[in-house]
Amino acid sequence: MKILGIETSCDETAAAIVEDGSIIISNVVASQIDIHARYGGVVPEVASRQHLLTIMPVISEAMTKATWHDINGIAVTFGPGLAGSLLVGVNVAKAIALAKKLPIAGVNHLEAHIYANWLDSFPSSSGEMGKVNFPCLCLIVSGGHSDLVLMMGHGQFEKVGRTRDDAAGEAFDKAARILGLGYPGGPAIEQAARSGVPCLSLPRAWLKESHDFSFSGLKTALWHLVHKGEISVADVAASFQLAIVDVLVAKAIEAAKQLKVAQILLSGGVAANKMLTQHFLAKSPIPVLIPPPHLCTDNAAMVAACGYYHLQAGKISGYDLDVVPSLGLG
Ligand code: KG4
Ligand code: ZN
Repeated sequence: MKILGIETSCDETAAAIVEDGSIIISNVVASQIDIHARYGGVVPEVASRQHLLTIMPVISEAMTKATWHDINGIAVTFGPGLAGSLLVGVNVAKAIALAKKLPIAGVNHLEAHIYANWLDSFPSSSGEMGKVNFPCLCLIVSGGHSDLVLMMGHGQFEKVGRTRDDAAGEAFDKAARILGLGYPGGPAIEQAARSGVPCLSLPRAWLKESHDFSFSGLKTALWHLVHKGEISVADVAASFQLAIVDVLVAKAIEAAKQLKVAQILLSGGVAANKMLTQHFLAKSPIPVLIPPPHLCTDNAAMVAACGYYHLQAGKISGYDLDVVPSLGLG
């Protein structure tokens, strides 16, 4: 069963074809990073206009690896994300579904991130190839979310932790702006941290009574550090990165132990961070699955993989499918 996935929730215009929820036939991502970088972050109006320009060429490129005859369904992200951006993907998906008489699955972007773990095979910390075992604990760390979600089976989610303020990716982006490192902040901080030492003391919000996260205090502490003068940007970047990694790793492992899950599944743009994945693999007694970096950041292959399980379960969206910018998971 081949699914065409479409993703336009933020600043990546993406289309992909995935077979049986796991085999990537094509995976095309047109990033708008260069366009938004000059403004220091995503400009929603610019993003939706850019999606409009790019969506058809991106779908055409993905479709060079299949004919419309081969496609059994369409999966599209309908939330969460920027309303104007989501609208482009959802309306294109509905138009194609109508014209080609294909079923359509509206997909939650956060759920789609998790399904990057079903794509490709990669070894987990215990050496087993990337096969998901339920129940698992999903850590979704992106530009807008830092969620811990218990997954009991396909389509069965229960949120057990979330950020109370900034998301992990948002914290990276804001810290990079304070340090003058540009956008997006995660890769910029990771790069700067390579030549630094995590020698500076920065706070960690443990929120021990819950599985929630908080990163705004860390960001404020960084701001004070930078405005005190004389600092090494590389050392600050390394110290900041370690502070985020320490909290994400320790809290996810603690929650996984408490909930007695079989696996921890990482996903979202921040899961592309090398230090985060290395710490998880070194410290977790529970097997950890981590998608390769290009499947952690926004893409449509994860949307197609997720849509496959929706359509298999008979969850077909109607032509009244609409965007839900503040959609949550679990
Ligand atoms: O999942 P994603 O591509 O888009 C959203 O759904 O938000 O995540 C984007 C976020 C950005 O905040 C970006 O700075 C962060 O992921 N990110 C990283 C890395 N690559 C992307 N954060 C830390 N280290 C990275 N290597
Ligand atoms: Zn995302």
